[in-house]
Amino acid sequence: MKFPRIIILQVLLSLFAPSGVLASTGLTVNAYGRDHVSLNGKWSAIPDLYDQGRRMEIYKNRTPQGKTDFYEYSFGPGCMRLNVPGDWNSQSPELKYYEGTVWYARPFHAKQVAGRRRVIHFAGVSYRATVYLNGREIASHEGSFTPFEVDVTDMLAPDGENLLVVEANNRRTSDAIPAEAFDWWNYGGITRDVLLLDLPEQHVADYTVRLAGGSTDTVEAEVLLSQPEEGVEVEVAIPALKNGIRLTTDAGGRATGSFRVKNLKLWEPGAPSLYDVVVRTPSDTVTERIGFRTLGVDGTKILFNGKPEFMRSVSFHEEIPQRMGRACSVQDAEQLINEAEALGVNMVRTAHYPQNEHIVRLAEERGIVLWEEIPVWQGISFTDSATLAKAQRMMTEMIARDKNRCAVAFWSVANETRPSPERDRFVKSLIDTVRSLDSSRLVTAAFDNVGYDKASGTFTGSDNIPALLDVVAVNKYMGWYAPWPLAPDKCIWNFAPDKPLIISEFGGEALYGQHGSSDTASSWSEDYQEKLYLDNLDMFSRIPNLAGVSPWVLYDFRSPFRFHPVNQEGWNRKGLVGDRGDRKKAWNVMHDFYMSKKRQK
Ligand code: GCU
Repeated sequence: MKFPRIIILQVLLSLFAPSGVLASTGLTVNAYGRDHVSLNGKWSAIPDLYDQGRRMEIYKNRTPQGKTDFYEYSFGPGCMRLNVPGDWNSQSPELKYYEGTVWYARPFHAKQVAGRRRVIHFAGVSYRATVYLNGREIASHEGSFTPFEVDVTDMLAPDGENLLVVEANNRRTSDAIPAEAFDWWNYGGITRDVLLLDLPEQHVADYTVRLAGGSTDTVEAEVLLSQPEEGVEVEVAIPALKNGIRLTTDAGGRATGSFRVKNLKLWEPGAPSLYDVVVRTPSDTVTERIGFRTLGVDGTKILFNGKPEFMRSVSFHEEIPQRMGRACSVQDAEQLINEAEALGVNMVRTAHYPQNEHIVRLAEERGIVLWEEIPVWQGISFTDSATLAKAQRMMTEMIARDKNRCAVAFWSVANETRPSPERDRFVKSLIDTVRSLDSSRLVTAAFDNVGYDKASGTFTGSDNIPALLDVVAVNKYMGWYAPWPLAPDKCIWNFAPDKPLIISEFGGEALYGQHGSSDTASSWSEDYQEKLYLDNLDMFSRIPNLAGVSPWVLYDFRSPFRFHPVNQEGWNRKGLVGDRGDRKKAWNVMHDFYMSKKRQK
C-alpha cells in the first residue's frame, strides 16, 4: 500500500515501544481474523467419572481387528454426542451436576501443505484440557476462560484423516483458580469455539496497535513474526486515515515504531469508533477492527480521552439463564449485551473471569467499556507458588488475547480476597505481572472488607492493596448481607478517598413476580429489592470519590449453593432480570438512575 503522506517517526524502540510486552503465550493474536475452519459441531463424548480413559488409551480410538480383540469404548455409532461449543451440564440431564472427565472426539480432514502451518485454537475448555491428535498427547491447559493453541502441522495424518480427542475435566481442587467453592455453576466441557487456523509458515503471530501513552495523534505498533527473522518489511496501515508505517524486523522477528495520524476519531464510551488496521508482511496480511482512546485517572476521576466518565456498569456471568448454560455464541453475546445496553450502561463487568471474545468484541462495537478479571475469587490457595504461577499465566493469556481491545479499561486482579501476608504477596505479584505486560490500562481489585466503623462513624476498611491500585472497587451488600447501621442518607464513606472508587457489586435477591413487604428481606420480593436499590443509590451518591457503580447482577444465575426451595432452587436471584428474561421492579430504579447520570454528562 502506498501512503500519500507518511510521517514516519523511526524512534528508539525502547522509548516508544508499546508499554506492553508482546506476551509470549504462543497465542496467535486475533485468531478469528485468520484463515480458519471451524471445528465446532457435534463431537462424540464419553463421560469418564473414574478417570479410566487414559489407562484404556481411549484417545487411540482402537477398533477390534482380530477375533479376540475387544474395547470397552467407542466414539463411533451409539456414542453420546455433545455440541461444541457448549457446556455438558445443559446438554444432558445426567450431566447437569457432573464433575469429572469427559472425553470428546471428532475427525477432521487436513493435510500438510508446504509453506503453511495448521494450528488448533481452543477459545476455552473448562477446566483442565489434555489434547490428543491421532493417538498422541500433544497439549494440555489449565483454566476455563483463556485460550490456548497447538501447532499440529507436523502431526497431521499423511492421508489427511485426523482424529482429535480432548480430555476435559472440571473437577474442583484447592489449588485451582477458582478453587473449590464459588458462586456460579461449575460448567464443564469444550465451552468455547475450536478453530483450525491455516497460517503461512512465516506469519504475523502477535501485534499491539494503540495510541502512544498520553497522545491522541501518535499510533504506536509492535509486531512479532512467528519465526525470528531479521529484515522482514512489516506494514501497519490504517487505510481510512490514509496513513501507516513501514517497519523492519530485528533478529527476533520483532518490529516497533510509531506514526502520526490526523483526523483520528477517538473511541469513547457510548460513541464507538473503530478502524480497520492492516498488518502486512510479504507472506501474511491480517486485518482487525481496532479503536483508539486515551485512558487515565485524575484524582478521583476516571478519564476517557481526557474527559471524566462515571462508570454506569452492570455485572453479568457468561451464562444464558433460559437454557441454564454457558454463553458461547454470537447470539448469546447479543442477548447479554443488548440487555445490559437497555439498562443504560456504558460499562460491563464481565464477572468473574475473561468472558468469550464474542462478548468482548460486541461490547467494543457498541461503545461499552469492559472490566475484565481472572477468577481469583475469595478463597484461593495464596500460599501455593504453583497457584500464583497459574494466576500469572491466566492474566498473561487474558492480556495477550484482549490487549488490542480499546474497550478494555480495567484489569482486575482479585475479588473479595481477605487480607493476610500471603494474600498481599500473591495479589501484589499479580499487580506486578499486569503492569509489566500492560501499563496502558487501569489496575483494580474488588474488596468486601469495607464496613461501618462505629468509632469513626464512617464506612471504611484497612487493606494494603488499594495503595497499589489505580482504581479501588468495593462490593457492598447493604440491606442484604449487612443491615443498615444508619439511614442511607446518613452513611458517610471514607475508603481510599484519594482514588476513584467503583461500587463493583451491590444488590439483593428477589424472585420475579413475587411481591411483599419492602422492609423484609426474607420476602424475597421485588418490592424489597426495589427499596434496597433506592436506599443503596441514595448512600452511594454521597460518596465523594464515587466513580461508578456496577449492580450485582444483570440476570439471575445458576449457583449450587442457593438452596431455598421456593425462592432460589439453585438460582442466585440478585438479577435485575429474572431467569426467563423478565425485568424486576429494581431494573427500573437502576435504569432511571443511569438515565439521570447520562443526562448529567
Ligand atoms: C459476592 C461475589 C459474587 C456473588 C455475590 C453474591 O460479592 O463477588 O460472586 O455472587 O457476592 O453473594 O450474590
